[in-house]
Amino acid sequence: MTPRARVGPPNPSLWPWKRQLGVWGLILCLMPFGGAAETVGGSAHRLGDASAPIEHDYVGVAKCKSCHKKELMGDQIHVWREGPHRLAWESLKSPESLELAAELGLSKPPSESEECLACHVTAYGVPPERISRPLTQADGVQCESCHGPGRRYRKKKVMSDPERARENGLWSISDASGICQRCHNDQSPTFRADRFIREDGSTAGFDYDVAVQAIAHPIPEHVKGHYLELDAERKKAEKAARSN
Ligand code: HEC
Ligand code: HEC
Ligand code: HEC
Ligand code: HEC
Repeated sequence: MTPRARVGPPNPSLWPWKRQLGVWGLILCLMPFGGAAETVGGSAHRLGDASAPIEHDYVGVAKCKSCHKKELMGDQIHVWREGPHRLAWESLKSPESLELAAELGLSKPPSESEECLACHVTAYGVPPERISRPLTQADGVQCESCHGPGRRYRKKKVMSDPERARENGLWSISDASGICQRCHNDQSPTFRADRFIREDGSTAGFDYDVAVQAIAHPIPEHVKGHYLELDAERKKAEKAARSN
């Protein structure tokens, strides 16, 4: 790759202009956020509706905690905290990042440079009016980077119905959706074509199946589809135990 490849659009209002540049067209397709992202992640499955802009808002990982830090649910918050994405912004301050920044001749520290932030934080380049709570860069790549902006789907009644959740902005993730590849691609200065090793020993710069296993945070199988009932039962049992 060319070391000076620029990745994040500094200002979304410039996008139409950039779209005219061939290479930017490609990069924009791979961009994690903004208009193209919504189409890929959010509405591709909503047939007949692909052109309608979906103005879902980002709310921040704190808004997912009340339910997704529960043990019964599978504590996705914990898995994420221990995984690679939580520290994506922090690692822009590492000696390796400073070295990369020097090589690339960045004018600002990597933790403030669009050339790095585009893939190392959530919702980079999204217009401020679509961010309803302050997103902390320190949260790195959080839930909404992969599951979509959460303001509307995070409500209990919506979340517990997968179809309704998707109608309210929850993205469908698969290899084909390209959500991971918006960041896991050769525009990353640390991209290595042999980073991911498949079961058969072959390698790839990114392999969805291998990568998903490395960040797995499932809802326990017996709970999947039944969280609300099981949680209500648990609360009832606790209450009964207390009054005995
Ligand atoms: C008020 C509680 C609550 C909040 C807040 C919440 N969720 Fe959920 N979430 C649920 C419930 C309930 C389910 C369905 C569990 C089950 O399978 O029974 C669910 C399921 C999911 C699923 C799986 C959907 C599927 O296709 O099966 C994802 C992904 C998810 N939540 C992400 C998030 C994210 C990201 C946030 C924060 C933006 C969030 N949730 C906030 C309660 C919540
Ligand atoms: C196109 C998205 C993208 C851009 C732009 C990007 N990164 Fe990354 N970065 C990634 C991904 C994805 C990884 C995980 C490793 C991989 O597959 O490259 C990563 C990993 C890293 C790591 C960990 C190194 C390792 O080998 O695990 C450092 C340090 C880093 N990036 C620094 C930077 C700096 C500094 C910049 C800006 C000059 C930058 N990145 C720009 C996507 C990006
Ligand atoms: C780097 C991308 C990424 C991030 C960050 C991420 N997830 Fe996920 N999540 C996925 C993928 C991929 C799946 C599996 C989708 C599938 O079922 O194939 C998934 C599945 C889930 C599921 C459903 C599990 C099941 O058993 O059906 C829940 C719930 C969930 N995520 C919640 C969260 C929450 C809450 C956060 C933030 C704390 C989060 N995720 C962060 C990519 C991500
Ligand atoms: C918004 C950009 C972004 C998205 C989307 C994204 N990632 Fe990442 N991912 C990163 C960055 C940045 C890192 C490196 C974090 C660091 O060390 O600074 C990374 C690291 C990883 C790693 C560790 C890689 C290693 O070599 O250590 C795995 C595994 C991974 N991501 C899986 C996924 C999967 C699976 C998806 C899609 C479901 C996904 N990621 C989506 C940005 C992203």
